[in-house]
Amino acid sequence: MDKLLITGGNQLNGEVTISGAKNAALPIITATLLADTPFYLSNVPRLQDITTMMKLLEGMGVTFEVDDNFNIQANSSNVNSFNAPYDLVKTMRASILVLGPLLARFGEAHVSLPGGCAIGLRPVNLHIQGLEAMGAEINVEAGYISAKAKRLKATNLCMDIVTVTGTENLMMAATLAEGVTVLENAAREPEVVDLARFLNRMGARIEGAGTTTIRIEGVEKLYGARHQVIPDRIETGTYLIAAAMTGGRVKVKNTDPNLLDAVLLKLLEAGTTITRGDDWIEIDMQGRRLRAVDIHTAPYPAFPTDMQAQLTAMNSIAEGVGMLSETIFENRFMHVSELQRMGANIRLEGNTAIIKGVKALQGAPVMATDLRASAGLVLAALVAEGNTLIDRIYHLDRGYEKMDEKLSQLGAEIRRVS
Ligand code: UD1
Repeated sequence: MDKLLITGGNQLNGEVTISGAKNAALPIITATLLADTPFYLSNVPRLQDITTMMKLLEGMGVTFEVDDNFNIQANSSNVNSFNAPYDLVKTMRASILVLGPLLARFGEAHVSLPGGCAIGLRPVNLHIQGLEAMGAEINVEAGYISAKAKRLKATNLCMDIVTVTGTENLMMAATLAEGVTVLENAAREPEVVDLARFLNRMGARIEGAGTTTIRIEGVEKLYGARHQVIPDRIETGTYLIAAAMTGGRVKVKNTDPNLLDAVLLKLLEAGTTITRGDDWIEIDMQGRRLRAVDIHTAPYPAFPTDMQAQLTAMNSIAEGVGMLSETIFENRFMHVSELQRMGANIRLEGNTAIIKGVKALQGAPVMATDLRASAGLVLAALVAEGNTLIDRIYHLDRGYEKMDEKLSQLGAEIRRVS
């Protein structure tokens, strides 16, 4: 199993290119189940989660052709299985995103329940309730969701909790339903908007994506389309923080500064200098020490939970005390005990981490527990004194394309060891 060995202390400087957004590419790939003519997708990140999603769809009969730049041609004209088996679903919760498209186009889906994960319970009750309200007959037995429907029927749905994949699943299901579906309290994440843009290119009639009310007029048929996936805002934020923590100056390219206002505001508050263009952001720390900031995670456009671990690492070495409240997932502080082993001064009180910045962290052997927690540990390691060996980096490979190579180009001393 690969590990990352990082020797801290190098200032990061230079330019880094951001990959396509994992959380946009995943639902977009499942949406190819909705039509039987070819699709062409670009700016898809080369990640383990993307490969897993393609494997899941291949098991259903979808074919993929991938070129050297990881542009993907998908064809769903020969789908002959509606099954998402436990073996794949257990490795990636986003597999639940096949449920809506399968049910909408084929009237049948057999999808393993994802179960819990390291960061919390993460139920899918709202996905199921929404599809039931659209007329699907759903049974949950022996760990599987078995769903059947003739043609789904439009409905008005107000979701109890803002759920990203829940909104995406129901939006995809509604594209082929009879009548006009209205989703209220919908997630406003940019990845939901990108999916809606893609579905509209396929012939869907969706309005309001990016607001809390999405209106979907069902159509009889959808068609293959071309689409370029939006840049990854979480990867963008992670490199900006890496630069800031090491006191360096980094230009992050091929990104969209408009997608991370809440993160940029916090970085400004922390004392960084930020300039931005249409598709780039430059951060300059001029060797200064960061100031601690308070954070409260919440659905978009507020501060993203997927940046919480990185901010915890940042506050660990900043001047002052930062309070970080996690409101989305109940168990998303697994990185805290690892950061404490590196000398961080963090106290946990319920869903809040109180972080008193220390002058320096010390390298130590640590264990990655989930995707974003791993990123937090990498950031801490970049500024720690001595060596940090991060175990279980398969978590990192699920969501960050070539992170070791990108950081090393910026001047970090980082290498992958077996
Ligand atoms: C997505 C993102 C993930 C991000 C999260 C929150 C993808 C592939 N993943 O995950 O990176 O951290 O949004 O921004 O896009 N909930 C229920 N019932 C449901 C569905 C959700 O109670 O049926 C709860 C969850 O337990 C959680 C909250 O709602 O507490 C938000 O979760 P949700 O937005 O659904 O997260 P994901 O879509 O799984």
